[in-house]
Amino acid sequence: MKRIIYGLIMSAIPAMAMADGADFTVSHLSADNSIVRLVADSGKYLLLPVQEGAPMAHIRVLSDGKLDETLNITLADNKVDYYVPLLISDRGGKNIVLDVTCDTGRSSVRDTHDAVWTKEMKISDTFDTTNVEKYRPLYHHTPVWGWMNDPNGMYYKDGVWHLSYQWNPYGSKWENMTWGHSTSKDLVNWEPQGVSVDRDALGTIFSGSAVVDKDNTAGFGKDAIVAIYTNAARTQRQSLAYSTDGGYTFEKYDGNPIITYEHESRDPNMFWDAEHNVWVLELASALDHEMLIFNSKDLKEWTLVSKFGKGYGSQDGVWECPDLLHLPVLNSDGMPTGEKKWLLICNINPGAPFGGSGVQYFIGDFDGKTFKCDTAPEVTKWMDYGKDYYAAVSFSNAPADRTVLLGWMSNWQYANEVPTRQYRSANSIARDIALFRANDGEIYVASVPAAEMDAVRGKAIDYHSAKLAAKGKTYRLPDENDGICEIVCNIDTKDNSPVTLTLANAQGEKVVMTINPAADTFSMDRTKSGITDFSDNFPCVTVAPARSNDNKVWNLRIFIDRSSVEAFSADGHFVMTNLVFPTSPYNTLTLSQPSAKGMLKSLKVYPVKVASK
Ligand code: FRU
Repeated sequence: MKRIIYGLIMSAIPAMAMADGADFTVSHLSADNSIVRLVADSGKYLLLPVQEGAPMAHIRVLSDGKLDETLNITLADNKVDYYVPLLISDRGGKNIVLDVTCDTGRSSVRDTHDAVWTKEMKISDTFDTTNVEKYRPLYHHTPVWGWMNDPNGMYYKDGVWHLSYQWNPYGSKWENMTWGHSTSKDLVNWEPQGVSVDRDALGTIFSGSAVVDKDNTAGFGKDAIVAIYTNAARTQRQSLAYSTDGGYTFEKYDGNPIITYEHESRDPNMFWDAEHNVWVLELASALDHEMLIFNSKDLKEWTLVSKFGKGYGSQDGVWECPDLLHLPVLNSDGMPTGEKKWLLICNINPGAPFGGSGVQYFIGDFDGKTFKCDTAPEVTKWMDYGKDYYAAVSFSNAPADRTVLLGWMSNWQYANEVPTRQYRSANSIARDIALFRANDGEIYVASVPAAEMDAVRGKAIDYHSAKLAAKGKTYRLPDENDGICEIVCNIDTKDNSPVTLTLANAQGEKVVMTINPAADTFSMDRTKSGITDFSDNFPCVTVAPARSNDNKVWNLRIFIDRSSVEAFSADGHFVMTNLVFPTSPYNTLTLSQPSAKGMLKSLKVYPVKVASK
């Protein structure tokens, strides 16, 4: 089976073959079971029509009588929302048969002939991937089509950043979990590479990690890429796949599954602990709200050595997607202190500060086996104070001692419902993280935009410094770039009165950000940001503790793309990520301050420039 072919997508109008029975036949055997028989060598793809919300069909794809793949798909019942490609060439056999089971509620076989999918399926040698979505981001990674959630198996090798991700290639809602794969030389422009790790007899492929096995500890070869992930079927078990071509294609290890823990557990994340000379793997024991820690010498045999988390931090939801990292501690001005600490990332859903999914973390020590948290169990620290940053984990083997994280820019509360169709969900921009000791004496994570973001700045619109006004002063955002930009500003509030920064469009849709010096907080209100009615959980105001050194002087970097706003304090002391769906791009920024005492000391607006999508 070789489904990697998705890498060979063509942006062209599909050259359709006739679908009137010349290329396939459909036999309806009962009200809920049909057989599709494809004519040999008729084309590369069967384009399957999808209708969101239609009953779920279960398809078994047989190649010369052998089961090759199973998938779930909401085949179009009475209208076509979009198509997805099912690869039919390169399956090894001549005779491809689809055994389709779908309970549409029809009671007679005769009526199943009315199901739209049976008339609208098409054979084609190409699949049209031209973007049709107004909300597809320009500079954030998205799948070319289909649903995406967590980033997976991320690593850097030979100048290339590899990002796999939870992907449904057969629809734009969560289903059929597979690792899709994209690569980038600059963390901004991503090339789709098709499937890296595909579903198998042990189940679908949930989240996991990948490392470069530099010393061939596993025996798959020097510099083999070793991925460990959750195989999800009736239960969750952990399996291994390896790649000897740099991470483009993976072989499954014949000893799978390699970890069978007797509670629901998932999202293995591993690293080489050079200090203790051992591989370390963290695994989320999701319902027990704890992270399991394993050791190994060869990446194949793992021993459970400790558990962390019972009673710690937020326990409201399932614990998922761990990461354990050793990081330098900076002082509050960003200067190195020489100290290093361990950071344990623990994604949790629900239970985040503003509902749904969020990234909590713990700071402490680690001796190769046991993580010891510095703070009391009731202390909860959050990585991002928006609603849309989840499943954040790091790239393994990053160069120059960097620790680079990517998150999934959505929230399980409404991720399946956001107003896109061709694809659903994007990643955050890449962020470099370190630790810093804040003025309250505590250690927190500092997240700053990856330096690669500087390279995609277009020519700045450099506005003059100005006194802040109570009635507000409005600045234009780059219309010619659909308002897609990075705003860099320095605001001296002078007194303790709040300053608002409002992004707005001609429709009066707006995102209102508020600097509150008295409370030392930054907030973002998206209640009137555009389309918000797809979920009651979407309209909201999110608030971050700013942990500023000088709560009167605010240096901000705000990244705007077609459907997101990510606001950072320049020193990384807070970050807030929120999705927005304005009906037309925000094209103005208005600053105002009721006391009118403060100063806008500088304001630069950089159009973000990358090849258009
Ligand atoms: C987190 C998560 C993971 C799981 C994956 C399934 O968003 O629930 O725990 O591996 O998504 O897609």
